[in-house]
Amino acid sequence: MIPNDSYTQHLELVCTQLDQALAETGFDSLLIYSGHAPLRYRDDLHFPFRCNPQFRWLVPDAYARSWLLYTPGTRPQLLLYQPDDYWHSVPALPETFWSEQLDIRPYSAESELKGLLAGAAQRAFLGNRSDCGTDLELGQENPAALNARLDWQRSFKTRYEQDCLREANRIAVRGHRAVARAVQSPCSENSLHLSYMKACGQGENRLPYDSIIALNEHAAVLHWTALSAKTQQPKQILSLLIDAGADCFGYAADITRTYAGEVGLFSDLLESMDNMQQEIVSSITVGRSYVDLHRTAQRGIAKILQDFGVLRVNVDQALDEGVLNTFFPHGLGHLLGLQVHDVAGHQSDRGGATRPPPEDCPALRNTRNIEEDQTFTIEPGLYFIESLLRALYDSDNRKSVNWATVEKLIPCGGVRIEDNIVVLADGVENLTRNAFATATTSAQDQGDYK
Ligand code: GLY
Ligand code: MN
Ligand code: MN
Repeated sequence: MIPNDSYTQHLELVCTQLDQALAETGFDSLLIYSGHAPLRYRDDLHFPFRCNPQFRWLVPDAYARSWLLYTPGTRPQLLLYQPDDYWHSVPALPETFWSEQLDIRPYSAESELKGLLAGAAQRAFLGNRSDCGTDLELGQENPAALNARLDWQRSFKTRYEQDCLREANRIAVRGHRAVARAVQSPCSENSLHLSYMKACGQGENRLPYDSIIALNEHAAVLHWTALSAKTQQPKQILSLLIDAGADCFGYAADITRTYAGEVGLFSDLLESMDNMQQEIVSSITVGRSYVDLHRTAQRGIAKILQDFGVLRVNVDQALDEGVLNTFFPHGLGHLLGLQVHDVAGHQSDRGGATRPPPEDCPALRNTRNIEEDQTFTIEPGLYFIESLLRALYDSDNRKSVNWATVEKLIPCGGVRIEDNIVVLADGVENLTRNAFATATTSAQDQGDYK
């Protein structure tokens, strides 16, 4: 449950931030378009609607073809599209924890927009102009200086946003627990996905991203979403990697767990990775650079590979030679919020200056210094990816690896462990581990949620 007062405070704070950003960039008002569900090619069916996250920063629910209009000193207006339409569902006027805070003005036809959207001379417009279905003057489109300030602000979460992320984690953990149970009986990746959605009470169009559910060697594909069906059920389950999230008012959980099918080399490796991941989380402090955390994770993974006899070289050599990148080819994590890979991960100030990732880890999505109210993931991984292994085998560094041990681990695919973190004034809160620790086997957990 999201407390009313947390949204009220959130909206007040966001409006103050908008006032400052608009003043700094020379605009007198702001218009945000929510977007719409595009038509499929040569079809009369639509892709799922994905609402503009900037709109949902102020409006908790998703509405297609609707607008948020804000003029400093006034209540934000929600121009809510309620067409006469007997083919499709039309949203009702909201009556919920947030609806009193907005000045809601329903409209049913484009012809009504002229009056509603007057006064665009000094206005900024955020959205995709070609989607809007109107030729009206909307304002200056997507000004970079304004977007930089809003993105920067969005990387510091208000209490309401933290509440939403905490709840999204609770919901996702219901799904993860259901999958951990379901994998103990005969299953396919697709049947696990169905168990996940049932336990979360969220379908594919609601989940923040396509679930990654990978049995055995499929875990070596970082984003394995080609979920296999019953006919492709593996004879023996050696490993399961599930990376799946949940939604709460547009805010995303992004959680990964890996399981071993039997006790042995892979389960020991998994345990070491889990310990290392938790050590990284406990080393998070305000002021520390996320790049530095990534470097610590690289060293931790190299040490594990050395300890398990995968590497014949020491940690420094594995890093200097670039051998580690074969086994850990992605970044340690990313900012998290209304977008799974949230905005401003490479920004270094509110004006839009950037701090790109180091050359040897171009996939690192977060280069920020850690500050209070940031939310981000910590997701180290260790994989046995055939194409990368082949390239390493064919390189001058072939001798750095014990290939017999690698051969034993290839059928297990890999390990990733991903938690969602919020940095608070009095320390770090691990939303994911807390949700697992407090989860109970309730009716919802059995898949009876809504
Ligand atoms: N689920 C995508 C990611 O972890 O970044
Ligand atoms: Mn992630
Ligand atoms: Mn993930």
